[in-house]
Amino acid sequence: MTDYSHIDREAFKQFEHDGFSRVAQTYDRAIAQVTSQVNTAILDAVGVGYGTQLLDVACGTGWLSAAAVGRQAIVTGLDLVENMVAMARSRCPQAEFYTGDAENLPFESARFDAIVCNLGILHFPAPQKAIAESWRVLKTRGRYAFTCWTPPTRNPFMKLILGSVQTHGNMNVDLPPGPPLFRFGEPTECETALQAVGFTSVSVTELPILWNFPTPEDVLPTVIASTARLGPMLAMQTTTQRHNIENAIIEGAKKYVSNGSVEIPAAVVLAVASKPSVQ
Ligand SMILES: C[S@@+](CC[C@H](N)C(=O)[O-])C[C@H]1O[C@@H](n2cnc3c(N)ncnc32)[C@H](O)[C@@H]1O
Repeated sequence: MTDYSHIDREAFKQFEHDGFSRVAQTYDRAIAQVTSQVNTAILDAVGVGYGTQLLDVACGTGWLSAAAVGRQAIVTGLDLVENMVAMARSRCPQAEFYTGDAENLPFESARFDAIVCNLGILHFPAPQKAIAESWRVLKTRGRYAFTCWTPPTRNPFMKLILGSVQTHGNMNVDLPPGPPLFRFGEPTECETALQAVGFTSVSVTELPILWNFPTPEDVLPTVIASTARLGPMLAMQTTTQRHNIENAIIEGAKKYVSNGSVEIPAAVVLAVASKPSVQ
């Protein structure tokens, strides 16, 4: 497994915390409707239904938790950012929400029947630790699932944004380094990381997602205003770079205009695994 021990985990965690605190409102408006497109697949994958004790790690503003409550599961959500948790509580009063760290879960061992984490793992400085913590608080025969964006080679939205920065700007702006954004977009990385803590029956599939914007001009401002890592990277470009990046994104987005709005395809990897009864 690749060694990421050179990363300053506390600096990266603080950066993620501050970023998501800043964008919580716009995230809820602009991004949560995108990430929620895979909610049904995630809940199906871990078998959420009536009475399931479910933990939603990095629950954000609570859309996945709310979908699980809709299935009459008993839902606990956790997120690092208080602003996110506050919105999750008001979206979904039937669930119990905690502010906390995925890498140090404030729950007793073997408490949950199922654990989900939608697009959280790429934001953790030590994802292996987060996977081990989910393993600890999961019951035997419990199911665990997480998602991660696929890399730009298989993800037109990410290709448009990051390709435009690569061509017209600077990818190496001064931000706290974190683990590679698309690490778990590779099935082998998911399998290795899950099997390393003891998970079995690992399956990895790819799910489509559509990013929707009213006009091509809305793409860049929305991404800047609602993401914790991409936003600051884009905001730190020079005026000329920013201008050229913006033009490239607008031109690229025009290819995806359909029925009066912009629909740019993307995809996530969904990794699912079981905690076996014999370990
Ligand atoms: C891209 S959002 C995903 C939110 C939600 N699951 C969704 O699908 O919309 C990533 C979330 O991870 C949370 N997060 C980042 N680092 C975390 C950590 N160490 N522990 C728990 N949550 C974390 C952020 O606050 C943010 O809400």
